[in-house]
Amino acid sequence: MTTAPRSPLLARHASFSAPRILLTGANGQVGWELRRTLSCLGEVVALDSKALNLADAAAVRQKLREIAPSLIVNPAAYTAVDKAESEPELAHAVNAVAPGVLAEEADKLGALLVHYSTDYVFNGSGAELDSGEARPWREDDACDPINVYGATKLAGERAIQATGCRHLIFRTSWVYGARGNNFLLTMRRLMRERPELKIVADQIGAPTWCRDLAEATALVLSQMVLPDSRFDQTQAWGIYNMTNAGETSWHGFAEAIQALDGSNARLLPIPSSEYPTPARRPLNSRLNNDKLEQTFGIRLQDWRAALALCDAEGR
Ligand SMILES: NC(=O)c1ccc[n+]([C@@H]2O[C@H](COP(=O)([O-])OP(=O)(O)OC[C@H]3O[C@@H](n4cnc5c(N)ncnc54)[C@H](OP(=O)(O)O)[C@@H]3O)[C@@H](O)[C@H]2O)c1
Repeated sequence: MTTAPRSPLLARHASFSAPRILLTGANGQVGWELRRTLSCLGEVVALDSKALNLADAAAVRQKLREIAPSLIVNPAAYTAVDKAESEPELAHAVNAVAPGVLAEEADKLGALLVHYSTDYVFNGSGAELDSGEARPWREDDACDPINVYGATKLAGERAIQATGCRHLIFRTSWVYGARGNNFLLTMRRLMRERPELKIVADQIGAPTWCRDLAEATALVLSQMVLPDSRFDQTQAWGIYNMTNAGETSWHGFAEAIQALDGSNARLLPIPSSEYPTPARRPLNSRLNNDKLEQTFGIRLQDWRAALALCDAEGR
């Protein structure tokens, strides 16, 4: 367990007691970045999966009561999309049951719960860019997950909502960063190892840098927890899409990585049907970020700009 000291930024508000922030999944892509970005808001108690196993509901309740945070930030999740098809119980425990437990405890503590969800709550229709029906998903579109991971993440959202606790749920997509398991790092490795790669070109979405997610999360929270917040805290609860701007396919993402890497591997575009996986993936993973901008004035940078920054740092 690690803690960060109280922020000098907040110290100027004499009457303000900085929040104690419980952060789960502190070694994940988003969790790692949140350690830093949340540290300017309050005291961060950062717990990895060893210190807090979300599959153990009793342990989760006990830890929350011990720490008594006023803000709970939960980027931890069972994120192995294909493996979830053969481990549905564990995926359900972590992605569906645990968020409900966090929400119940948040409600008892009067804490605000921040949770992350996914474009995989949608079925992926509307991917044909030239079709009149095609558009990015909005927060209130009907959910219809097509794999176990998506179903468990949707169940987690609903478990949180059912408690009536104060909550923010950020739905994001195609998360990558300079560490962890992600498409950027896998592509960099494969482009070095192989002369030719077949990459799915009919799934479209927005690659999202985990650092931008963590920065945006802190910006939203700073608007909600500061004493001179213009928000009545209840006003802004709910689900928000949060991805980098723009869109591409996995093949387009790979080409952008290659342009930065300078590798000579041939990148062949293929349809999803030629790359069978245990879990089906939605074709249209695009999320409309207008609500985040309209509510909090925050829009994440274009995915290409984010990739260039992440790439420059990761070398
Ligand atoms: N990655 C994506 O492409 C993507 C896309 C859309 C939405 N999201 C959502 O965004 C959020 C952050 O994702 P991410 O990319 O940062 O995920 P990640 O890098 O896979 O990190 C997930 C974290 O959850 C932890 N975890 C797994 N099982 C746990 C358990 N039983 N108890 C406690 N912690 C556990 C992992 O710990 P260990 O490392 O110790 O196992 C890891 O630190 C998640 O809610 C995810 O569903 C991700």
